[in-house]
Amino acid sequence: MSDAPPNQSVRRYSKEYPNGQLILNVYSADIVRCRFVPKRDTDFLQVQIVQMEPRTQARFEIRQEDGYVELNTSRLLLRVYDDGPRVDLFDPDGRPLSLDASGVTDSGESLQATRRIGEDEEFFGFGLQFHSFSQRGKTKFLKINADPKDDSGNSHAVAPLMLSTAGYGVFLDSHSYVRFDLGATHPDRLTFETPDPVLDYYFFYGPSFNELLSHYTELTGRISQPPKWGLGFWYRMKSEWKAEEVKAVAAGFRERNIPCDVIGLEPKWQTHAYPCSYVWNPETFPDPKGFVAWMRENRFHVNLWEHAYVHESSPIYEKLKNAGVVADHTVWGGLVPDFTMPETLEIFESFHLKEHVDLGADGYKLDECDGSDYTGGWFFPDDTKFPSGLSGAQMHNIFGLLYQEAFHAMFARRNRRSYFLCRALFAGGQAYPTVIYSDWYGFREYVRVAANSGFSGILWCPEIRQTDDPGEFVRRFQTVFFSPLAMINAWADGVTPWEKGPEIEAIFRVYADLRMRLMPYLYTAFWRMSRNGKPVVRGLVNDYPQDRETYAVDDQFLYGESFMAAPVFSGESRSVYLPEGKWIDWWTEETYSGPARILYAAPLERLPLFVKSGALIPMGPSMNYVGEKPTETLTIRVYPGDSASEFMVYDDDGETLAHYEGAQCRLKLECRPEEKRLSLQHGDIRGNYKPEWIYLLWEAHGVESEPRRVMFGTSRLARLSREDLETAETGYAYDADARIAWAKVPISQPGKVRMER
Ligand code: GAL
Repeated sequence: MSDAPPNQSVRRYSKEYPNGQLILNVYSADIVRCRFVPKRDTDFLQVQIVQMEPRTQARFEIRQEDGYVELNTSRLLLRVYDDGPRVDLFDPDGRPLSLDASGVTDSGESLQATRRIGEDEEFFGFGLQFHSFSQRGKTKFLKINADPKDDSGNSHAVAPLMLSTAGYGVFLDSHSYVRFDLGATHPDRLTFETPDPVLDYYFFYGPSFNELLSHYTELTGRISQPPKWGLGFWYRMKSEWKAEEVKAVAAGFRERNIPCDVIGLEPKWQTHAYPCSYVWNPETFPDPKGFVAWMRENRFHVNLWEHAYVHESSPIYEKLKNAGVVADHTVWGGLVPDFTMPETLEIFESFHLKEHVDLGADGYKLDECDGSDYTGGWFFPDDTKFPSGLSGAQMHNIFGLLYQEAFHAMFARRNRRSYFLCRALFAGGQAYPTVIYSDWYGFREYVRVAANSGFSGILWCPEIRQTDDPGEFVRRFQTVFFSPLAMINAWADGVTPWEKGPEIEAIFRVYADLRMRLMPYLYTAFWRMSRNGKPVVRGLVNDYPQDRETYAVDDQFLYGESFMAAPVFSGESRSVYLPEGKWIDWWTEETYSGPARILYAAPLERLPLFVKSGALIPMGPSMNYVGEKPTETLTIRVYPGDSASEFMVYDDDGETLAHYEGAQCRLKLECRPEEKRLSLQHGDIRGNYKPEWIYLLWEAHGVESEPRRVMFGTSRLARLSREDLETAETGYAYDADARIAWAKVPISQPGKVRMER
């Protein structure tokens, strides 16, 4: 029996079957929730991952047909069969997206949905998968694990999210250990399975990957804007170094003019680290207040290492114990807090705020919240009992998620943002400015993870450590500067950017400087991600899912709207895949036409880096740290394409939560290549935040000849030398060798620059 009469529009539809009930809810025209509730005890505890409320106007139009009911959201068409809990999925034109095979089956131990795989269908997703990229033919068992040594599906960060090239996505809402069989057992069958007593999943319709991610992040959360300083360079000090040595190395960055914004302290800053006391060690950091103050005066942000297991010497040990908010297992002898309990949050928060945050510390590296199947021992076992009632198995996948969530809330209470490192995340973790890192340290895997981080929007840092091969050191830092968090983690060896000689130091400076100059571009990319879920870093397949060549490209990635990077693993050249469109070499300005595979010469100093034609790239000044100089001149690098292109730049104060109250601004930029001129237009600065920008400096690349004249509205701009343009308020310049034309105008005056041929 169904609960809705036919030919009606409803928000919920359910149907009874001999083995249980199928319930369908429409969340939006593109998102449908599907639940199967079997006829057995279905009581279980679950932490809420889905944040979205169904949109009030979303409806199913229902039609009873022979043998099935048709539910139409206008973007998704579902058929629910009378003879069993089976659901077929079609696009708005009635083309099949995903067809059921044998419905939902209940083994008593688990619930499983079996669906058909389309002939050309390929699957991506499941969080940060180190060992594979496309997933058809594989099985993914989603368990958080610090040592993903094989392709089981285990990882530091997993998400039961699957993106199909057929144009749909599935999110299985379960933080238990779920399994996806993507044609491993039967080549044309897909199954997903949960040990929970309810099977609860969501279908989305894209068809593009970026639309699928927009729906997924609408459902489970979109990133909040990181602080600007978090996007600068990070250096984690050797754990053994005491306050004075740490200060000396930090000063080394400033003396050498090597950008650095964040200084990370590793375990030895605490009196006890395995497990943690969270107390400053008087032998290594005798004056924590003075130390943090020195760091702030020198414009460094301090990030503190810790994990969640609490040593008996910690002032919060007894408090947690007395409040009864710890598990019945310890890790390294330390208490394991239950982060679902309000008392836990209160105890952690009041101590951390007082002892670290209010001193001026700006963030944390939340380590070892992932466990390891290989080293064993350092995580709570599955049969652990948490006071909330969750078992170890139910807590396992969300422990890191809850841990970092609690810490972000702490900064929000002080009207501050933070940017964290954390070693475990689950679906929903992409809603926070928190970045995953690893000890795995395989360069090839690190780049693959950069590419597949874009299938769930989880941020990933391919950190650099010591390596015996200076060439590899260079290749790694070239890569990390095009990631969400640019960092050397010198906790074990104290490696610095300058110790490998002046040549390598010089290359380092080029990339660090580029990172700083690209700050407006990167900051805007995060804003875009916060608006529509489009990951800052993503694989080529995210943007080109129709191009089958991209399905295997796991060694290149897109960075923001316009860049594509192709790290070099060995030697001085590599093969690079260029999808459809024109691509311009960032260094040489040579233009290539895709789709094409090219052999690219990449001497050590050169990361293969391409920009899409039509790109408008906002850039700021060179800086040793964020805020060193005001960005008075916003430079817009333009690579005119064959047709018009546009870009929206975003800005806010970069630190507080005032942007939520409207203190933010946007500036629209347009490039229009016309037969006799190149038109470059900027709009009004919209919004309530007043940016530092005074001038807009257009920098058009690939301009073959000196413009006949350059107009801004009705006034003609004066021809100046490039040097004089620096200090002038308006004017234009041209460099014939570089084929670049510049035009400088007041940013507060919206208008069109016309470079006439
Ligand atoms: C590891 C972590 C390293 C470093 C180290 C300190 O778990 O991945 O980055 O922090 O602990 O003991």
